[in-house]
Amino acid sequence: MVGSSECAKCHSAEAATQLDTPMAHASTPAPHAQILLEHARLSLERAPYTYEIIRGDGGSSYSVRHASDAISEQLAWAFGVAHKGQTYVYQRKGLFYESRLSFYKSLEGLDLTTGHSSATPDDIEAALGLRLADDEARRCFGCHTSGSTLAGKFDPAGATPGVTCEQCHGAGTKHVAAMKAGKIEEGRRAVLNPRHLNPVASVDFCGACHRTWADVLQAGTTGVANVRFQPYRLGNSRCWRQGDARLTCIACHNPHQQLVQDAASYDQKCLACHITERSGEKGAGPKVGNLRSHPGSACPVSMEKCVTCHMPQVEIPSMHATFTDHRIRIVQANAPYPN
Ligand code: HEC
Ligand code: HEC
Ligand code: HEC
Ligand code: HEC
Ligand code: HEC
Ligand code: HEC
Ligand code: HEC
Repeated sequence: MVGSSECAKCHSAEAATQLDTPMAHASTPAPHAQILLEHARLSLERAPYTYEIIRGDGGSSYSVRHASDAISEQLAWAFGVAHKGQTYVYQRKGLFYESRLSFYKSLEGLDLTTGHSSATPDDIEAALGLRLADDEARRCFGCHTSGSTLAGKFDPAGATPGVTCEQCHGAGTKHVAAMKAGKIEEGRRAVLNPRHLNPVASVDFCGACHRTWADVLQAGTTGVANVRFQPYRLGNSRCWRQGDARLTCIACHNPHQQLVQDAASYDQKCLACHITERSGEKGAGPKVGNLRSHPGSACPVSMEKCVTCHMPQVEIPSMHATFTDHRIRIVQANAPYPN
């Protein structure tokens, strides 16, 4: 590992914006977590338990109380930049635990962590959080930090917070050495450029963390909970099934930049395949390949902001937030969520 700041010396354009993305901040050691700095005291009553996260000199302590019983631990990591939510990881007797409560942006406060049971925990230890099995902890750090597992050994103490350049481009030592020596071609070959992947491999590349189609089928996640897994949702679209490189994740998203939130700016992506017919004609236009065009428009209903109707926002109640459904489709009023 050479670190993102080393890459930035030669790739200032990518680094200038990548280092500000939520992916680059997908985790933070708890003492530096912005949310915990901004909220000196967070608390929640979930009868019969009372929770508090209190800011101290060296970091934040997380405690739960019930009658005369109380336990507390220092928080080790904050997972998620809290675009929607943030979950805490602490260690107890050398083992990793996930906090039973998370911070939610829309609440500006705490509530039950997504995936945790809302049933009253049996004892105060279980009320604090859930033990992460070794492989779960390894996967959790694998997606939210960089370099937590080196040479097959899981060592989160040595992890770099967030998704760094090398997490996507591979270890950079050889690339940097070759480039410094002016061996440009050798340097190019020593680094992974995901641009050259075929469409399926490209989407699976992002799916390593965003979950591939196969991951979701295997886990059997059904209902609105799977709207978080964009590769799966996109994979179920007719656009994808008959599509090509015009519809990979990187066709719409530049992973070095902030998410674009202007709906109209995605129109060109759709129109790369759904062509616009000359206006003035009547009825449905000719079929072009397997796509139907409409007079003056690719769509019989609207000529702009395609994603607002065809990629609807879906709420996950436990996240107190909505997600963009990447299953591109005609949305029928009152139709159930299609798995
Ligand atoms: C000493 C300067 C230098 C450093 C440091 C450096 N690179 Fe590069 N990199 C280059 C040059 C020169 C090229 C080839 C010209 C270009 O594409 O801009 C390149 C090309 C690339 C490419 C495109 C490869 C292709 O397909 O042609 C990627 C991806 C890349 N670098 C990633 C990284 C990452 C990640 C790091 C940090 C681990 C890094 N670079 C550090 C100089 C550097
Ligand atoms: C190493 C794991 C990893 C890989 C690989 C990865 N992501 Fe992410 N990505 C994340 C995590 C974790 C988050 C959540 C960050 C947060 O909000 O804390 C995220 C968030 C995002 C977001 C949301 C940003 C926002 O503003 O909320 C987009 C868009 C995104 N990723 C696109 C991509 C694309 C495109 C690729 C493939 C080129 C990709 N990601 C590959 C881990 C990854
Ligand atoms: C397979 C990769 C993967 C694993 C394992 C994983 N995450 Fe994530 N996580 C993501 C991606 C990708 C996102 C962004 C999309 C989303 O919100 O689902 C994300 C989002 C989040 C968010 C919301 C971030 C925000 O800014 O709103 C939190 C909180 C979170 N993860 C916590 C955890 C914790 C805690 C663990 C482990 C106990 C974990 N994740 C395990 C990939 C992963
Ligand atoms: C989430 C994954 C991800 C992260 C993190 C990431 N990149 Fe990339 N990078 C990509 C993908 C995907 C491409 C191909 C993009 C495309 O073709 O549109 C790429 C392409 C590049 C290229 C080649 C650009 C070109 O014109 O071909 C360079 C250079 C590069 N990245 C540097 C960096 C540097 C430096 C960092 C860290 C500051 C970084 N990347 C972080 C996924 C990532
Ligand atoms: C046709 C364009 C398109 C493609 C392809 C696409 N996305 Fe998106 N994505 C969007 C739009 C539009 C948004 C919502 C932007 C906003 O917030 O306004 C979005 C939002 C997101 C978010 C933020 C969380 C959310 O649900 O709003 C993540 C993460 C994400 N995309 C990941 C991916 C990944 C991974 C892939 C590849 C499987 C992908 N996207 C492919 C258009 C696309
Ligand atoms: C790679 C090319 C491609 C891209 C990019 C693309 N589509 Fe498609 N789309 C298709 C194909 C092919 C079909 C299937 C046509 C058929 O089966 O008759 C389709 C079907 C559709 C349908 C009908 C779906 C149904 O279930 O009946 C809608 C709506 C649609 N696309 C909207 C969009 C929107 C909106 C975007 C941009 C967010 C988009 N498409 C991007 C190729 C694409
Ligand atoms: C206001 C909501 C809305 C917007 C915005 C919108 N559409 Fe549609 N679209 C619909 C509805 C509703 C239908 C189904 C119409 C029908 O079946 O009569 C549809 C149908 C379609 C179809 C299937 C047409 C066919 O003949 O099979 C495609 C493809 C499509 N839209 C693409 C797009 C594209 C591309 C854009 C952006 C340029 C877009 N839509 C913008 C609501 C919208």
